[in-house]
Amino acid sequence: MHVSLPADMDLNTYLDLRKREFYLTADALRSVAADFVRAMESGLAGRPSSLRMLPSFLGSPSGREHDSVIAIDFGGTNIRVLEVELDGNGGVVTKRILRAPLVDPAGAYDHLGAGSNAEGLFGFIADRVAEIARPGVSYDLGHTFSFPCRQTGVNEARLIFWTKEIRTAGVEGEDVGQLLDRALASRGLSQVRSRAILNDTVGTLLAAAFTRPHVAIGSICGTGHNTCYLEPVHPLTGRPMIVNMESGNFDAAPQTRFDRELDEASERPGTQRLEKMGSGRYIGEIVRRVLIDMAAEGLLPVSAGLSRRDVLSGPEVGAILADGAGLEATAATLASCFGWVSLGDERLAAVRTVVGLLVERSARLTAATFCGTLLHIDPPLSGEHVIAVDGSLYEKMPYYAGWIQQAIDETLPAARGRVGTMLAKDGSGIGAAIAAATAAASEV
Ligand code: GLC
Repeated sequence: MHVSLPADMDLNTYLDLRKREFYLTADALRSVAADFVRAMESGLAGRPSSLRMLPSFLGSPSGREHDSVIAIDFGGTNIRVLEVELDGNGGVVTKRILRAPLVDPAGAYDHLGAGSNAEGLFGFIADRVAEIARPGVSYDLGHTFSFPCRQTGVNEARLIFWTKEIRTAGVEGEDVGQLLDRALASRGLSQVRSRAILNDTVGTLLAAAFTRPHVAIGSICGTGHNTCYLEPVHPLTGRPMIVNMESGNFDAAPQTRFDRELDEASERPGTQRLEKMGSGRYIGEIVRRVLIDMAAEGLLPVSAGLSRRDVLSGPEVGAILADGAGLEATAATLASCFGWVSLGDERLAAVRTVVGLLVERSARLTAATFCGTLLHIDPPLSGEHVIAVDGSLYEKMPYYAGWIQQAIDETLPAARGRVGTMLAKDGSGIGAAIAAATAAASEV
């Protein structure tokens, strides 16, 4: 949509225009949901689609999984390595957990940016496994690797391409299990046996479905955004299988010029369009682009900070949104990012309004894709559905979870009260353990 600006722009007129662009009505959400269902069905049938519908080779867990497992959870900024015990009666005990940043804030190492490579990244992960594995104990290993992978089995996954702006060389097109196994072998970790590689959405779904009924959809609303679901009769096997949709790549949500410009300036233009419209990695960037526009209109001061990419982080966006009537956090954030002081209440409030519009759009778009997924798995919407969600946006961004629920209820009024979301905190690590145990049991 292109909205042309009147010659004399004041803040309220400007905000009205942005609202017309960014606010998605219930009808708009229903149309996104309908496009999403079509994209799911094309992707499943192997026809061209922005939804990759990647098979996971995993079904739903039984709760009887029994094993001693090491789980790796690698999704972007950090890795977590967990030692987990599954007791066979639905019990999960996380015995130890180790977190490590992949980019050292002190600048000593960077396993994800320009100049980083596969050996460095997987060597670093294997070193963390070595810190957790007890000598003499055998483990099955589950590996959550939160990027689009082409799987040919539960333990065979090739990275299609990096998302979330990661640039590590030598991983795209490679089998990530082999890269990890090589790194483990070179460290003498033969008691650790790779069993499963899975997406974080799949881990989230497995962890939630392990302990409660009605969970057939798992999603991440964090640095990245993506959703998976349990396909009741998968075309490959004729049996239930979890499908990683890579819904961050969905391309039928209504983009504005701000979204198009952000996409063009990103590592991989044309990909991950939905993700770039509102996940934690990008939300600050979209806000920055609107602020640049406001400065060009004379509504905000021009500042050098405005041209610094990624200057505004997801948590800072959250702080602005959470701000009280005094707008102190907004003033402090804008001062530190853009050097703006004494903006005055009207301009501070206008920035907060822009932030609110963009965060709410992100939540509503996510909700529309959840509704599309529900319409695919339960067209008459007769059942009860719980969507398991993890990620910083869902957990920490003010209003986000509530806005998702409101938009689901507006989009599918007939299902009101029967469709909800739940936080599946750190589910992807536990899900990796469940996947490893399932895969190990089916091999014995
Ligand atoms: C990105 C990845 C996807 C992952 C999501 C959340 O969209 O491509 O695989 O699930 O981020 O981490």
